[in-house]
Amino acid sequence: MIERAFFHPVALCRDVHEQPLPVRLLGEDLVLWRDATGQARVFTDRCPHRGAALSMGRVVDGELECPYHGWRFEPQGRCVAIPAVPGFTPPEGHRACAHQVREAYGLVWVCLNPAHTAPPAQVPVPLPAFAAEDDVNLRKVTSGPYEVQASAPRIVENFLDMSHFGFIHTGWLGARDHTAMQPYKVEKTPTGIFVSDCFAWQPQSSVHAQGGAMVEYTYEVAGPYHCVLTKVPEATAVKLANFRESIALFVCPVDPERSRVWIRMAMNHSEDPDQTLIDFQNTIFGQDQPVLESQRPKLLPISEHAPVKEVHSAADLASSHYRRYLRELGVRFGTC
Ligand code: FES
Ligand code: CO
Repeated sequence: MIERAFFHPVALCRDVHEQPLPVRLLGEDLVLWRDATGQARVFTDRCPHRGAALSMGRVVDGELECPYHGWRFEPQGRCVAIPAVPGFTPPEGHRACAHQVREAYGLVWVCLNPAHTAPPAQVPVPLPAFAAEDDVNLRKVTSGPYEVQASAPRIVENFLDMSHFGFIHTGWLGARDHTAMQPYKVEKTPTGIFVSDCFAWQPQSSVHAQGGAMVEYTYEVAGPYHCVLTKVPEATAVKLANFRESIALFVCPVDPERSRVWIRMAMNHSEDPDQTLIDFQNTIFGQDQPVLESQRPKLLPISEHAPVKEVHSAADLASSHYRRYLRELGVRFGTC
């Protein structure tokens, strides 16, 4: 499954402590924990001895101890102690399945292809780019996780879709009397798609906008389940010098029809408390969520053999390109 070769977000960094934390990614149960150096570690949540959930165990002296018979696993996954046989040195093959883990954008990212078994073609791609993160002048705030009963690609497609603003987000990101969309551009990039020249009339484009205005966006997809929206300064409602705002959608594909979502905001124009900005995203996502969960089929129909066909209009150009990108990538999870 090609999705296993990508990094996906699984938890907020601040939620991962020494105490093992169960998470789920691409239909697989995992355990997250921190070793003695504070580094995040992730194993398949299954003890190689008798299959107990390692997430029910504890961390002792920087090693993960299984709850059942107390076998201890060092950070790379190798079993280093079997309490029932004290003098025994476990062989190399006695190991928990360790996965690659990174911390970025306030989130813990996991790639399920274990490094020691990855054939060259499956070497994990880098973390998704979020250029605004590195700009020290931009303030970063994360909202979520949102637990959504929808497939990951449906959620990305919703993020790329401006023609729902006048309906789902009426009075916020759109209005009933401004539903016509101007043509916009979509280009294929080496890693995904880039959408530009997107204009929308927005009554309340951000938490502090004063009155409605035309807002210009770009969107960049550089991985199957994440997308970065950047507001283009000249057309924004807020005429501040050097106005910048980028919003990243990071989706964890938990199961084919279940996802966890975080929204990472990077901006230089707001002095509102974090909670005000989070409340704004909660409102917007809360408007999207019931519709996302209502969509049928739950999986995104991208194959020519999909059981149900969907039809398109010219406003759906970004979605059409995203579907083509997923098809070319060979994504299976969350699609039909
Ligand atoms: Fe984990 Fe036995 S099942 S130590
Ligand atoms: Co929406």
